[in-house]
Amino acid sequence: MNESSQTGRQANESFRFVQLSDLHLSTIVSPNPIHLINKRILGYLSWLRKRRHTHQRWILDLAVEEIHRLKVDHYAITGDLTHIGLKNEFEQASQWLRSVASANDLTLIPGNHDLYVNEKWHRSFALWEKYMLGDNQTRDERSDHALKQLNQLYPTIRMRKNIAFIGLSSAFDAPWFRATGKVDQQQLTRLHKLLSSKTLDSYCKVLLIHHPVTMTHTPLRKCLLNRDKLISLLKQYPVDLILHGHGHNSCYDSIDCANNKIPVVGMSSSSSTNQTKNHKAEFLLFDITQNTQSWMINKQSYTFDMRQKKFIATTRKEFMLPTTH
Ligand SMILES: [Fe+2]
Repeated sequence: MNESSQTGRQANESFRFVQLSDLHLSTIVSPNPIHLINKRILGYLSWLRKRRHTHQRWILDLAVEEIHRLKVDHYAITGDLTHIGLKNEFEQASQWLRSVASANDLTLIPGNHDLYVNEKWHRSFALWEKYMLGDNQTRDERSDHALKQLNQLYPTIRMRKNIAFIGLSSAFDAPWFRATGKVDQQQLTRLHKLLSSKTLDSYCKVLLIHHPVTMTHTPLRKCLLNRDKLISLLKQYPVDLILHGHGHNSCYDSIDCANNKIPVVGMSSSSSTNQTKNHKAEFLLFDITQNTQSWMINKQSYTFDMRQKKFIATTRKEFMLPTTH
């Protein structure tokens, strides 16, 4: 926990958290060819040709340096820490996670690149498990099947002060040439139960999902396949904020509900060398304050300026949502 939390903030003070996404922080070192005789070969070739130049660890390091200065209460990472989900990439990411924050202060959900092909749990997500599990949640140890485990684990819930981080997994073993996502029916059923139970009524509900829930900024080959089911559930039982990554572009959308609009915020990759508009490396800082009848959500974007070699506060947006739906 950082200084501001340790010193005890007042009840009406904001909760500050940061979103990072699509870090692609690993380097693929001498991969065993056996592990590439599947869809991974495409990802490996793409990494050799392009992605190893596009995603730079030193940019991510500068982001973390700046975030430490901003004294956040929590980190939310919306997936894609690796390129093709090899064990060694999971190990590299695990080492990085340990250097950033404790498992209590960092919530992680998987991205499609982390489950590029289905893997054994112990060779993959087991290494990140403590950052993924919800509060007081344990894992069914009988299965070593990564996809099965993800679908059993999610949705996860982590309550921090008056914020409830709800994690969903949209990763599945998508076909070749596709980066689509899917939220398994088991997850949707449990999400329905959770959101309709009133357990989280006094919390600001922040939903974390790797794939964009809406289609406005998403090509078909990258979409969330069963988004309609998720959207109709959220229209019935709204959350207060939806955060996603995946598109490597900074974007905004919303879902219309009876009494309000749910903000849907998508962010660029946090390690990208791209300097075109909406594609610059980015992290998002959120300050959430509870007023008498509303949540005030302040979103501040920090984008990377290659010329100055630093992250700079750029666009800012405010949302106000009723505390009772
Ligand atoms: Fe992705």
